[in-house]
Amino acid sequence: MSDARFPNPGRTPALATAGLAGGGHPTIIQGGMGVAVSNWRLAKAVALCGQLGVVSGTGIDSVLVRRLQDGDVGGHVRRAMEHFPFSDIVKDTLRRYFLPDGRPADKPYLRLPLPTVEGNRFHRGLMALAGYTEVFLAKEGHDGPIGINLLTKIQLPNMATLYGAMLAGVSHVLMGAGIPRDIPGILDELSQHRRTSMRIDATVPRDGEPVVAHFDPAELGGDALPELGRPDFFPIISTHALASILLKKATGAIQGFIVEAPTAGGHNAPPRGGKTFDERGQPVYGDRDRADLEQMRALGMPFWLAGSSGSPDALAAALDEGAAGVQVGTIFAYCDESGFETAVKQQVIDRVLAGDTDVLTDAKASPTGFPFKVVTLPGSLSESEVYEQRTRVCDLGYLREVVRTDEGKLAYRCASEPVADYVAKGGDIAETVGRKCLCNALMANVGVGQVQKGQTTPELPLVTSGDDLAAITRVLKPGATSYTAAEVVDYLLGQA
Ligand SMILES: Cc1cc2nc3c(=O)[nH]c(=O)nc-3n(C[C@H](O)[C@H](O)[C@H](O)COP(=O)(O)O)c2cc1C
Repeated sequence: MSDARFPNPGRTPALATAGLAGGGHPTIIQGGMGVAVSNWRLAKAVALCGQLGVVSGTGIDSVLVRRLQDGDVGGHVRRAMEHFPFSDIVKDTLRRYFLPDGRPADKPYLRLPLPTVEGNRFHRGLMALAGYTEVFLAKEGHDGPIGINLLTKIQLPNMATLYGAMLAGVSHVLMGAGIPRDIPGILDELSQHRRTSMRIDATVPRDGEPVVAHFDPAELGGDALPELGRPDFFPIISTHALASILLKKATGAIQGFIVEAPTAGGHNAPPRGGKTFDERGQPVYGDRDRADLEQMRALGMPFWLAGSSGSPDALAAALDEGAAGVQVGTIFAYCDESGFETAVKQQVIDRVLAGDTDVLTDAKASPTGFPFKVVTLPGSLSESEVYEQRTRVCDLGYLREVVRTDEGKLAYRCASEPVADYVAKGGDIAETVGRKCLCNALMANVGVGQVQKGQTTPELPLVTSGDDLAAITRVLKPGATSYTAAEVVDYLLGQA
């Protein structure tokens, strides 16, 4: 990709002229935040400031059909869909899911089929459409690049979502929460509209057949397909060792790394070595969990530091260390343009202003088994009494693990699903303890929570942030209770 993508890196002339801005690269990457926290509005607002805006592609197919069922206020989703090259997928999606007058708030959303290895053409097309729509809207009306973030752990939707994002001209793909070894080769193939495959991290009996998923753009039809660029690929890694492994073993080229510390929001890499926990059950990280930046520099690739890097001082320190800049999540997550539901955002900001913040690194909550940061918020699923009142249900299924049975069939299980179902599929009951349904909670965070059977109100949120949640007070102007993405960029670049 061209070097002119960030012609005005750092809106601050001082930073640019000091040569600190890593030529051709953004100084600030607004981290991908799922589900739909870093939505198209946030990514676009950041891109308009000359930095890299990143949309989240996690669960974006369900977000799309829920936005349509809420009437697609403003018509944005439908405006983007009109440009998608496979019109039958668009027509079918609208016919099945669009409700012009929206949906009564106490009625459930119609949901998509749960992702499976076989899947079906319509669902793959819809995943591509969802990736396309989010990137299209983020790119609309400006020439700045837009990236997409996906979780490596959620494998099944990723090929189709990436293809859709590429059809919309996504410039960067950023992926963490796992080792995205096969993605660079997949990007190479998709950029040629070629069929591609992904080995699925399945539990398979000894000598059992491995599980492989396929995606073939040709099945979507269309004859006048656009020429596609191959986006830059930035794996999100926690240690330099992982960066070296990826450079050696990845199936294609990597263009840079995000080096994420365990203080970052969302999922964190599990600590290396022994499992030690503090008195609150949080994993304890040590020196071995820190990336050696000298080794990172020795790799000769651009890298960005993430995790409590949301301040001008941290940016300057990162640049001093030879980084191209920083990737920042938490302070963007609570700005006006982010996808968090307004009430959730305000509750968090009010508590931060009152000096009342608590972020727990929950070792158990995520069915992925990775630690997940949770903001303690009254009335949300962070409170175990509240969570225990929820009836377990698995109706989105993004985090299900694939299991090959002794008979060779495929089964899907999630440690947050009803315990009896999990155990019936060979799961260990101990794995279900403390697990939370992130799929439903994260949808609730952004205002598209499901109304479950027998309920009249939606699922409750479970909010995540980095350890440095109090950093938002540094962005807020005196007396203000909200702020914009542009204010975050100005603050980081020392222009506030
Ligand atoms: C609300 C929230 C959701 C996040 N979701 C994701 C995600 O889906 N995928 C991902 O790779 N990182 C995710 N992150 C991590 C960010 O992309 C970023 O790396 C991190 O927030 C940087 O550290 P900071 O929070 O201290 O700024 C999330 C962070 C936050 C705050």
